[in-house]
Amino acid sequence: MNSRERFLSALHCKPVDRPPVWMMRQAGRYLPEYRALKQKSDFRTMVQTPELAVEVTLQPLRRYPMDAAILFSDILIIPEALGQPYHFREKGGIEMEFALDSIEQLNELSASDLQSSLSYVDTTLRSLRSQLGNEKTLLGFGGSPWTLATYMVEGGSSTSYRRLMEWYYTRPADFEALMEKLCDALIALFRMMIDAGVDAIQVFDSWGAACAGHLYRDQSLRWIERIIQALPADFPVILFAKGMAHHAESLHATGARGLSLDASTDLRAIRDRMPLTCALQGNLDSQVLTMDPAVARAATESLLKRMQGSQGHIFNLGHGITPDARLESVAAMLECVTGESL
Ligand code: CP3
Repeated sequence: MNSRERFLSALHCKPVDRPPVWMMRQAGRYLPEYRALKQKSDFRTMVQTPELAVEVTLQPLRRYPMDAAILFSDILIIPEALGQPYHFREKGGIEMEFALDSIEQLNELSASDLQSSLSYVDTTLRSLRSQLGNEKTLLGFGGSPWTLATYMVEGGSSTSYRRLMEWYYTRPADFEALMEKLCDALIALFRMMIDAGVDAIQVFDSWGAACAGHLYRDQSLRWIERIIQALPADFPVILFAKGMAHHAESLHATGARGLSLDASTDLRAIRDRMPLTCALQGNLDSQVLTMDPAVARAATESLLKRMQGSQGHIFNLGHGITPDARLESVAAMLECVTGESL
């Protein structure tokens, strides 16, 4: 069973020789080879230059036995392509060039030129697909409309999400117009990714937990469902919903094939309650990778043991790997999952 067969079997809850494994933000600041490239080019240049994006995507697979490559990019390429650029704050977090406020600003955001402004995604993915062949899984991704809207309306990373909530409650027509625009843009992006050969797409609803529980469907899930319905029938989508495992049934009802859940979730309890039409991805606490390899190994073993005998498990972190993760602890985690000695 090669990596791609293993991944696709697990995603369809079929038996596998061992759980497939990859990490969120697997390319990034914890890797010295990434930091070396970043000395020469900034993040957005790396994302938009196919040779660099291909190289960064493949870096973790050269070092480690990952079963899947995830495109090196960011969820914020969509607001950027619509006309709202982003950059990183000095002290961490995202800043948009402006906070979306007036209806005029909203009307100016345009998806008409998306195919050409995002053509670098197509070029990068085609090159990756031909280099990975049928051996490795290739993943595309994007943000959920709600999560992207938090950045766009708040003007960057936020802790309160008050402005977007105010749009929802007091300007429902503007809220819907923004969500519809984001759906159209994401459908175009995902179709492009599928045509370029990705095996699955992960949708990040990173800030879904900012929604009111009884409004989660109206504020976020129904837009995700609309996107999934616009993709080719049965194309597999994995939905990452941080802090929302208690909505597992509603998350799955969007049409998502798999749910990626954070480390606060008891994955086994969710596995036992969800049908085998739904794979589960996760959910090692990424903090253990900043600790001694023995800690990373023990934590990985404990999660594997808890999931033992269950079908449809893709091993992953609960959230993205952090810049201070230790290379030897990442290796220890991968040794446990793959049984290879590294
Ligand atoms: O997983 C991968 O390797 C694929 C690449 C990927 C990146 N961002 C690259 C990246 C993916 C899947 C993302 C998703 C993403 N981006 C999300 C959803 C997932 C999540 O974490 O909840 C979000 C919310 C973003 C927006 C974003 N981009 C944030 C909040 C940050 C951190 C900013 C900071 O201050 O640290 C980024 C930066 C980012 N995106 C990095 C990488 C590798 C770090 C870039 C660097 O400093 O070199």
